[in-house]
Amino acid sequence: MNSSPFSHALARLQEFPRLSYGHYPTPIEELPRLRAAITDDLGTCPRLFIKRDDYTGAGLGGNKVRKLEYVLAQAQTDGTNVVITCGGVKSNHARVTAALCARLGLRCILVLNNAAVSYQDWKPASFSLDELYGAEIIRVANRDERRTTVDAVAAELRAAGKNVTVIPLGASIPLGALGFVRAAQEAKAQLDTLGVSLDYLFHCTSSGGTQAGLVAGNQLFSVAKQIIGVSPDDPSAAISAEVAQITRGVGELLGVSLTDTVTVLDEYTGAGYGIPSPAGEQATALLARTEGIVLDPVYTAKAMAGLLDWIRQGKLTAQDNVLFWHTGGQLALFYAPEDKAI
Ligand SMILES: Cc1ncc(COP(=O)(O)O)c(C=O)c1O
Repeated sequence: MNSSPFSHALARLQEFPRLSYGHYPTPIEELPRLRAAITDDLGTCPRLFIKRDDYTGAGLGGNKVRKLEYVLAQAQTDGTNVVITCGGVKSNHARVTAALCARLGLRCILVLNNAAVSYQDWKPASFSLDELYGAEIIRVANRDERRTTVDAVAAELRAAGKNVTVIPLGASIPLGALGFVRAAQEAKAQLDTLGVSLDYLFHCTSSGGTQAGLVAGNQLFSVAKQIIGVSPDDPSAAISAEVAQITRGVGELLGVSLTDTVTVLDEYTGAGYGIPSPAGEQATALLARTEGIVLDPVYTAKAMAGLLDWIRQGKLTAQDNVLFWHTGGQLALFYAPEDKAI
């Protein structure tokens, strides 16, 4: 470790306070039956692996746990008594924040958009859990209103003498992304044990913290030759810029200069955020039937659709080792037909 050109950054990484709520290492599993099915169909398929961050555990799991362990540790150090964050009404980030705040005994306020749907008779699963975890929920019409409402509520509480931490969307700030620098280190150790050298790592990218942490961590720990983020919502240029900025911020936190070149694919988004895509639904069915693993329709299904399409296009060959990073979110599988959009 000390011989690494990044030994200073690795030492810095250990210094940041971190809560320990996830269950790590999350497993890396091989997907032999998926590979066999694809080979039957296309005549070729890389060796496929999956990183089960749907099993992180806290708040029913997913990628947000790793980021929030750093961000909420800092909030605790700062003496915070109220946490405010935002997201869509089915937000995985909001749900995990609510669960971890419950465990910390912190007041949690969630500003969630999609106020157009009343949810009288039926509620999305994540939204029900937000309430069960005791979060206070403010519903707003859209993303713009979300931002202004968070600022207004924070200002009001601060004026009343509260110590408030506002967690930006997805906890996608450099401090949160450290969770995925650490995850990259974890994955590298697992892959070394398996004797696998990765060519590609595919995952879903949206607010950017996951990819920034993986891109930064990849420079420190050499996990994969290429990291491919797949967008479920915004255009590639917008997400790439966000990821690059967070990556540079991670470099500043760790005292190291990091390359911020990133790859984000936006051709698998389909009709829009929160709207299941036919390719994503096919990918979900294929993985479920071959390996008994379920994806979610909003994020991971679209990322897997991208991976499968790259195999179809011949961009990934039988000689490649490819890891799909499962970022969770499966509660979104259970939605009412009239409530697909977020
Ligand atoms: C299940 C799931 N996968 C992937 C992502 C994308 O992660 P990030 O926001 O860090 O880019 C999110 C959050 O938006 C998510 O909830």
